Amino acid sequence: MQRLPLATAVSLGLFAGAAATHTMADTTPLEQQLKDLQSFQVIAHRGASGHAPESTMAAYELAHEWGVDYLELDVQITSDGELVVFHDDTIERTSDGEGEINDYTLEELKALDTGTWFNEENPDSADTAFEGAQMLTLDELFDRFGHDARYYIETKSPQLNPGLEEALVETLEEYDMIESGRVLVQSFEQDSLLKVQELNDDVPLIQLVWYYPSEEDDSKLVEWTDVTPGPAEMTDEDFQEVADYAVGIGTNFIYDGEEIIDADFVKQAQENDLPVHVYTVNETEEMERLMGWGVNGLFTNYPDRLLELVE
Ligand code: G3P
Ligand code: CA
Repeated sequence: MQRLPLATAVSLGLFAGAAATHTMADTTPLEQQLKDLQSFQVIAHRGASGHAPESTMAAYELAHEWGVDYLELDVQITSDGELVVFHDDTIERTSDGEGEINDYTLEELKALDTGTWFNEENPDSADTAFEGAQMLTLDELFDRFGHDARYYIETKSPQLNPGLEEALVETLEEYDMIESGRVLVQSFEQDSLLKVQELNDDVPLIQLVWYYPSEEDDSKLVEWTDVTPGPAEMTDEDFQEVADYAVGIGTNFIYDGEEIIDADFVKQAQENDLPVHVYTVNETEEMERLMGWGVNGLFTNYPDRLLELVE
């Protein structure tokens, strides 16, 4: 969502006039979504997960109400082939169950309480309404917000979730989320993104990267899945290899308190047609610093803090 002062928007003719109408009519929703990626995007990480249990309807309701650009979510597949919105490979951190998420049917997962843990961990934000929150399916999220939201969907742990990409693309097509410019698919696994692309090459893809110090030589940063070299070694060709299939890159910016990318990394990515989204940024000071670098969006558990800076 591009935010312009009202006077500027009016002077640019965005609210009235044949020229503006004509331009908008010539732009498909998917093209508009890609254009919007050039502007700053507020991405609600697992919903407004600083204020409500992550990945629950309550967290997405809040973020949607605040008018974020994207609802971020991780999808995984149940033992009976249903897509659920859930981050961890195992269920104990954010539910009253235990074990691996893929070992359970949807019915079994629906019997869990995915809200009470949040109240126990966050007494200041606790709300009795969160108690007994049920795990959310992708269908439920789409049924609730439909085309009135944009979704930034991660194919989480693709090796543990066989059939995930096929089920996801089928659901995106069923809800007409792709051509209507409603969805980005993100992954740390290049193969997963390429699989999505093979299934439907209109899906806009974001390559996630995670940089950390090499175990052999901790003065050198490496990327988790080896999809790129470390940030200091990135050449235009390395960025272009990502830009061949992805419309943007999502990266960490800090590891163990140390910054691992800088403004030059952001600039070089953008010069190679890759908008940069940074995860997961919760402190206002860090948000401001990254915005000063010109990043194209931030994933945050506190979209209210970020919206205050961009509005
Ligand atoms: O998807 C961006 C960011 O969410 C990646 O990290 O572990 O929170 O899924 P994670
Ligand atoms: Ca994620």
